[in-house]
Amino acid sequence: MKKIVILISGRGSNMEAIVAACRAERWDASVACVISSRADAVGLRLAADAGLATAVVEPRAHRSKELFERALVDAIEVHAPDCVVLAGFMRVLSESFVHRYADRMLNVHPSLLPSFSGLDTHARALAAGVRAHGATVHFVSPVVDAGPIVAQAVVPVRGDDTIDTLAARVLDAEHRLFPRAIRWFLDGQAVIADGRVTLADAVAADALMVPS
Ligand code: GAR
Repeated sequence: MKKIVILISGRGSNMEAIVAACRAERWDASVACVISSRADAVGLRLAADAGLATAVVEPRAHRSKELFERALVDAIEVHAPDCVVLAGFMRVLSESFVHRYADRMLNVHPSLLPSFSGLDTHARALAAGVRAHGATVHFVSPVVDAGPIVAQAVVPVRGDDTIDTLAARVLDAEHRLFPRAIRWFLDGQAVIADGRVTLADAVAADALMVPS
């Protein structure tokens, strides 16, 4: 059985969606631990309530980014995971950390990358007047929000959308997109080679989630 370690920083709703899918769909995998970069993260309590092992590795408890990441690696390696999942983990990781988990670390980002990498994606999408917004699951590369894309979900922007209404629909899409992309990776249906992701025929059509 494969092992997943999930890194969070806050609310943890994507973490919950992944755990729920893993259990409901009886993946040949389990979530070995949820690690938070904040001791006060709501998601940490949710993970504990779900019966998961948890750990906290806070940047401010370490004298440098290097020491923080060393502690993070130590906490992750206890579980020897097959896959590291960034589920709202709001820290920029160093190149050496990214290389350690190359080709087995997945992130969800609340936009249709490469548009709107970085923060405040919903506000920027509204300000730009785009008609289509959404979410992207990608492998993590040293350049932030620029790694090989596994799957994307399109969320239409409505004329009366506010940041909150748009964010809520994107988050709902993330909850459906992220678990399936993780499962594909664990099942060998999403394979990364030469900086691109190849999908098995059986799942390729589902890698672009569009509203019905
Ligand atoms: C999600 O919207 C995720 O896409 C975003 O943080 C939120 C976490 O929510 N991640 C990023 O912006 C990373 N660049 P959650 O804690 O409820 O899963």
